[in-house]
Amino acid sequence: TIESKVDSILSLMYLNEKIGQLVQYSGGWDATGPSSSKGDQHKLDKLKKGEVGSMLNVSSVSAIRETQKLVMEHSRLKIPLIFGYDVIHGYKTIFPIPLGETASWDLDIIEQSASIAAKETAASGINWTFAPMIDVSRDARWGRIMEGAGEDPYLNSVVGVARINGFQGNDLSDIHTIAACAKHFAGYGFSEAGRDYNTVSIGEYELHNTILPPFKAAAEAGVATFMNSFNDIDGIPATGHKLLQRDILKNEWDWDGFVVSDWGSIGEMIAHGYAEDKKHASEIAMNAGSDMDMESYAYEAHLESLLKEDKISIAQIDEAVKRILRIKFELGLFDDPYKYCNEDREASEVYTKEHLAIARDVAKKSIVLLKNENKILPLSKKLKSIAVIGPLANDKNSPLGNWRAKATYNSAVSVFEGIKNAIDNNTVVHYAKGINLTIPTVEEGSNQFLHPLKFNTTDRTGIDEAVEIAKKSEMVVLAIGEDAYQTGEGRSQTNIGFFGLQNELLEAVYKVNKNIVIVLMNGRPMDLSRVSEIAPAILECWHLGSESGNAIADVLFGDYNPSGKLPVSFPHHVGQEPLYYNQKNTGRPYSATHVTFSGYRDAPKSALYPFGFGLSYTTFDYNKLELSKNDISKDGELKVSVNVTNTGDRDGEEVVQLYIRDLVGSLVRPIKELKGFKKLMLKAGETKTVTFVINSKTLEFYTANKKWEVEPGEFNVWVGGDSNATLKGSFKVSSN
Ligand code: IFM
Repeated sequence: TIESKVDSILSLMYLNEKIGQLVQYSGGWDATGPSSSKGDQHKLDKLKKGEVGSMLNVSSVSAIRETQKLVMEHSRLKIPLIFGYDVIHGYKTIFPIPLGETASWDLDIIEQSASIAAKETAASGINWTFAPMIDVSRDARWGRIMEGAGEDPYLNSVVGVARINGFQGNDLSDIHTIAACAKHFAGYGFSEAGRDYNTVSIGEYELHNTILPPFKAAAEAGVATFMNSFNDIDGIPATGHKLLQRDILKNEWDWDGFVVSDWGSIGEMIAHGYAEDKKHASEIAMNAGSDMDMESYAYEAHLESLLKEDKISIAQIDEAVKRILRIKFELGLFDDPYKYCNEDREASEVYTKEHLAIARDVAKKSIVLLKNENKILPLSKKLKSIAVIGPLANDKNSPLGNWRAKATYNSAVSVFEGIKNAIDNNTVVHYAKGINLTIPTVEEGSNQFLHPLKFNTTDRTGIDEAVEIAKKSEMVVLAIGEDAYQTGEGRSQTNIGFFGLQNELLEAVYKVNKNIVIVLMNGRPMDLSRVSEIAPAILECWHLGSESGNAIADVLFGDYNPSGKLPVSFPHHVGQEPLYYNQKNTGRPYSATHVTFSGYRDAPKSALYPFGFGLSYTTFDYNKLELSKNDISKDGELKVSVNVTNTGDRDGEEVVQLYIRDLVGSLVRPIKELKGFKKLMLKAGETKTVTFVINSKTLEFYTANKKWEVEPGEFNVWVGGDSNATLKGSFKVSSN
């Protein structure tokens, strides 16, 4: 068995080799973190001595083979390296950013996109991705909101599991699969004020009920690794958090993979003011259960002396080593350390036509139709003229989003190109950029940009040209939003509106042509208050990846009927952030006559576009909500069914969503919680009955008893097409 093999290798290892397994270095590409202060020579020497367990950011079969050789040809025990990389939404074939892809609410295609990403990654020599990010994220200001599945714990759980299944398949040793990593454990998405790396203040109950469920689901799905996070939670840095890593993850959940620290996060406990120096930081991290040190150079320098001083134990080191060796065995690296190193596969299995076709399919399913007044969409392919306008209209780079792994710069299909590919030659397609939205970068093509974030607001010359083509066109497609690098790590913003001169461009075009379809490209929920006031149609297109423009054209011209739903609430105003549908009621939820209720004096408290929302070119009607029982025991079960009818004249898909509310609890419960969904296709005029099962898994929560349990009492249940669903039933759970 793998366990006995792990034990027998462990028994052969010297202490320096054991500690070496807990060390991870970055290769040449330092774009995801501060540049390494240690020279390459140090890394090479350690690799040869067998004192490194893993490398990140080494890519290409040849580079990986060369690096692996250093270990295999020089070290005593020849324990192969595991190679990690941030494959977040595709390797070279780029899929929509994770937040956008989640908007498909289609677990099959989400799994499929992860499996293609895995296939390309594995074909390029890499065997481990630092994904999926399953941090529940509710603050649009936080740049990393683009990397996850949005604001809801249930959605993060099921989407996270789909991604893990896609990356890992059924068998880690398959050459087309890679190890996944559930990150960031934990609380990173709750950083105060949406400021990256900031402190997190969250109570024990909220931690269990909101933040941990996706991680528990990932552990149960057999994710190979976890990454801890940069933030502190209530004063304890996650990297040094024993309760989280040792007690909950490893003991209570009985999970047997390994935990990698985030980049430098062991060393960062010094800056947090939690460790005196790297030695102290290593002691805290090891005792807390952080197994592998990513780029802190702390474990390699201090574990040996900490052991001599009895500050840590050999049992702890052995346990960490065993966890790492186990995954290397599961990947098959001991059978063949070069099994992922095959140039033929690298040449033939990456960025293929088939993969691009699937990327287009995933992209079109990720688009959310937010507004469609007077059925202005879909557009006819017989229009005489279209003006394609905007800084993102012919941008081939931004649609690739941030964290685009090995994407070729400027390789996405732009909206302008997609439109031209889709229509007859009889339609005249005018194009004007209007204004510039390029963030000044340190060097061209780099994802490191200069601070502070500045856009050109002086050069208005292009606006006139845009107005001219808008005047003479039947229809305007205006592509605005965010540059790819406005979201991602370190990309927090206080302003979630349109930067540069985008508002001016919108107003100028609107003056001369009211037939505007907004194609939004962005990585976070934006303030759409003005846009939604004036534009008759809005398509939320995120950063959709390699096939972006073709997918957008599929939806614009009705070759695909949009079916996406928002995985995150869009506010009226940034001041509402963090905004999420599953909030608590408060003691003063609403009053029409008094000022003293929980809301804002200058803005609504609800979302402009709520969680779960998205239109279609057809319409759906929900009726006949029926419960199989109105009273169940705590471990009982009931069925909720509803009839959904396609009341329009086109076939279309609908995401049918189930929400519940526990009316009185030992702790205050959210006003609505998503507990299930089904995406189904309905032909025009067709009705289908959709049934959900409600049982103890649906109803339990982490109660005031500090246990997951169902509490007796009244529950409400809703089924509908978004989180504002009104079709409601109720039932009771009795105590026996
Ligand atoms: O995987 C990432 C993590 O999400 C943020 N810091 C750097 C890591 C490795 O690149």
